Amino acid sequence: MEFFAVKKIKHLKYKQMKKITNICCIGAGYVGGPTMAVIAEKCPHIKVTVVDMNEKRIADWNDANLDKLPIYEPGLKEVVEVARNRNLFFSTDVDDAIRNAEIIFISVNTPTKTYGVGKGMAADLKFVELCARQIAKVAENDKIIVEKSTIPVRTASAIHTILKATGKDVDFQVLSNPEFLAEGTAVSDLHNPDRILIGGSQDEKGLEAIECLVGVYNNWVPRDRIITTNVWSSELSKLTANAFLAQRVSSINAISALCEKTGANVEEVANAIGRDSRIGAKFLKSSVGFGGSCFQKDILNLVYLCNYFNLPDVAEYWMQVVKMNDYQKHRFAKNIINTLFNTVSGKKITFLGWAFKKDTNDTRETAAMYVADELLQDKAEIHVYDPKVSEEQIYADLEYLQTHRVGHFVEQGDVMELSEIKKLVKVHKNPYDATKNAHAIAILTEWNEFKAYDWENIYKNMLKPAFLFDGRNITDKNNLNEIGFEIYHIGKA
Ligand code: NAD
Ligand code: UGA
Repeated sequence: MEFFAVKKIKHLKYKQMKKITNICCIGAGYVGGPTMAVIAEKCPHIKVTVVDMNEKRIADWNDANLDKLPIYEPGLKEVVEVARNRNLFFSTDVDDAIRNAEIIFISVNTPTKTYGVGKGMAADLKFVELCARQIAKVAENDKIIVEKSTIPVRTASAIHTILKATGKDVDFQVLSNPEFLAEGTAVSDLHNPDRILIGGSQDEKGLEAIECLVGVYNNWVPRDRIITTNVWSSELSKLTANAFLAQRVSSINAISALCEKTGANVEEVANAIGRDSRIGAKFLKSSVGFGGSCFQKDILNLVYLCNYFNLPDVAEYWMQVVKMNDYQKHRFAKNIINTLFNTVSGKKITFLGWAFKKDTNDTRETAAMYVADELLQDKAEIHVYDPKVSEEQIYADLEYLQTHRVGHFVEQGDVMELSEIKKLVKVHKNPYDATKNAHAIAILTEWNEFKAYDWENIYKNMLKPAFLFDGRNITDKNNLNEIGFEIYHIGKA
């Protein structure tokens, strides 16, 4: 606590704030890449260097062909085109970038721990710690270190301890500046954020550092949308925001199961409750279950923290959000097997979509892989079409899952070799080939193009009865029924 005074110093007279001209970001992933590209776009007077130890990733960011950027996000290549090699640079020279930067963002991955203390629950902070150690080793003058990664509350203290231990005559200010962008809308979220949150020490130097970062964002974000807090509130707000968002999805998904039993329609229920301005309409879309790299990991992290601070009832409350999500994925897979006369063995099931949501090539924790795994255990033949996800990624996801099956409704089942997975799973470049002679189609991602398909043609080329399981409720149920499909939507009888 001593490093992060929480008692605000009143009437602090700010010195003229240092004008920031050089920023670096460690981690060129889904957050570091787009976030820094937008900072560079909006702040042409600041040199922004994004560094990563992954050479391939950096080479892809530097590829002359903007369609080969490592991340697919609508609008991203246009931003990169404007700023790259003007004031935006991608490099593997981490030390050089640290040495020259006034502000260093840490935007590395913080996955759930897969080993040791806190296995399966706590965030693995080893990458963040490595960054702190590298900064401590290399830095020769004062630096502002910004936690951009999502981390457990009180991580700033650990970072500060590492930095302080250098014994160098260098001042390190650690700020928390969590990122709230959602994939698929990252660029518009960054251009027009609901808020920017910056937490820091509430003493004179801390407040100065906060103002420096405020100054960067204020180049395009109005000042009243930039919130400043103490460092712990900022760290905890990130986990809390994700937990609240995920909780809404699990809540509506829980109701979807009841809708299917009672004849209520989950979309009508969502619309009816969302009109209450106290509830609001967003994040009430029932689905096959939330995926993505963060919701599950951040809630598990929150649960771990609650248990750590001896709050088991609070931990149990949030754990239920994850449990409900596992239930929804399992329910979807089980419904496919039950409907197809209790076995999918040898049957061709076509997956439309593999990404965890539309407009991204990210597949981390995608519901699709859990549903696929359950069907593969019953020896289904799965044919996948996704407009943005590569064949290698789909095989890699399934191979990884064989030895990392977790979840409340997951049976350990057989561990399949990659060769066996490749026999049962085929990846297509065209949806019409993927659906030909299929027993059933399952929609796993809400890509817009799926709505515009020639469904009559697809129906004609499928085996009959032709089943369609829409895990995103994007198809027109009445229309497809008329064509002849046996169609199942989430939360509709
Ligand atoms: P990512 O895996 O896409 O990218 C992280 C990058 O950091 C990788 O390229 C990795 O090689 C690099 N890296 C790790 N350690 C390094 C080191 N010591 N030196 C240099 N490079 C290193 O992860 P991401 O999706 O960008 O997420 C990063 C953080 O942001 C996570 O904490 C995540 O929870 C948080 N976050 C993610 C999103 C999202 O939409 N993906 C949104 C908000 C917050
Ligand atoms: C989420 C948050 O929305 C971001 O604010 C946050 O920064 C980010 O996590 C993070 O910390 O990583 P993201 O996971 O990219 O963003 O995407 P979301 O739009 O939140 O969707 C997450 C999952 O929930 C997807 O699988 C999506 O299909 C599902 N979802 C979302 C629903 O099933 N129903 C909904 O109504 C909304």
